[in-house]
Amino acid sequence: MDFKAEINRLKEKLDVTIVAHYYQRDEVFEMADIVGDSLELARRAKETKNEWIVFCGVGFMGQSVKVIAPEKRVLMPKVACCAMARMIDGTYFDESVQYMVNRGVPKEDILPITYINSDASVKAKVGEMGGMVCTSANAFKIIEKGLESGKKILFVPDRCLGQNFALQMGLRSCVIGVGECDPKENDVICFNGFCSVHQLFTVQDIEFYREKYPDILIAVHPECDPEVVKLADFSGSTSQLIKYVDALPIEQKVAVGTEYNLVNRMREKNTFVLSSAKPSCPTMNETTLEDLYNTLKSIEDEKPINEIFVDDHTVKYAKLALTRMLEIN
Ligand code: 13P
Ligand code: SF4
Repeated sequence: MDFKAEINRLKEKLDVTIVAHYYQRDEVFEMADIVGDSLELARRAKETKNEWIVFCGVGFMGQSVKVIAPEKRVLMPKVACCAMARMIDGTYFDESVQYMVNRGVPKEDILPITYINSDASVKAKVGEMGGMVCTSANAFKIIEKGLESGKKILFVPDRCLGQNFALQMGLRSCVIGVGECDPKENDVICFNGFCSVHQLFTVQDIEFYREKYPDILIAVHPECDPEVVKLADFSGSTSQLIKYVDALPIEQKVAVGTEYNLVNRMREKNTFVLSSAKPSCPTMNETTLEDLYNTLKSIEDEKPINEIFVDDHTVKYAKLALTRMLEIN
C-alpha cells in the first residue's frame, strides 16, 4: 500500500491535525501539520481547531495535550513511553518530598518542578503542591520564577537538566541518592532520573572532535551530563539547537549532541553527530508510517485506536502545573 498517499487522502477527509516531535522518523515527520519541540507542541496542539489530534511522539506528549485541552480527541500511533518519564511515578515523587522533609525542610517550603518528560500523575502531584512543569526550552525561566517563592526546589525527574540549569544560574544543587545530598545546603534538589540516549554523549567525544577540527563548535541538549554541557559552546532544547545551527555560516563545522533523526536532518549544514554510537531514541523511533496510517484509518472507520484518556482529578492538577508554565512562558 502507498501509505503516504493514503495518509494524505485521510488528512483531506478528516477533521484532524497530525503533530510530530523532531525526533520522529523522517517519513513520519514529513507527514505532520505541526512539528516542534515539546514546548511548542504542547502550546500549538492546544490552539488547533480540529477535533482530532494524532500525536507522533512519546506518551507524556500526547497526555500533555489531553490535559491542556481535554475536549480534544488525542490518538497516538504508538503509545511509547519515554524511558526517563518511566523512572518516576507518584510513589517515588512522594518519597522524594519525604526525603527533604526528613532532613529538615517542611513540605510547605518545597516547590516542586517537573520536567515535561513525566507522567500526568506526577504533574498532578506537582500541581497540587503549587509547582510547575518546565521543558528544556524554558527551564531557566521556570526555576527563576520558582525561586521567587523563597522555597527549596525539588526538580524531577531529570538530574542532568536540574543540575545544568542550577549551574547556569549559580545555584547549589545535589542529586538524591548520590553522595551527600543535604536539602538545607542546596537550592535545587534533583531526583536521580536521566535520559539514556543523551548519556551517550561524552567528554571524550568533545575532545575527539576538537582535536580533529580545532574550530568546530559543540552544541548539546541539556539532558546531557553536566560535564558535557560545561564543555559545550551551546546548550538548548531541540528547537533552540536547530536555530543555533541554522544561524551558523555554511562552512562552520558543528557537532550536535542530541537524537540521531534530528541531527541527521541538519546534514546540509556542516554538521556531525557528537558520538561514535548512533544516539537513537528507541521509543521515539517506534512510530512507523503504517502506524500513522492505521490510526487515521481508525478515525475514518469510527473505531479510534490508542486514544489517550486522563482521569478528571489528574487533569485538574496536572493542568494547573502545565498552565503555570504556559503563563510564565
Ligand atoms: P525537547 O523539549 O527539546 O523537545 O526535548 C524533549 C526530549 O525528550 C529530549 O530528549
Ligand atoms: Fe525520553 Fe530520552 Fe527519548 Fe527524549 S530522547 S524521549 S528523554 S528517552
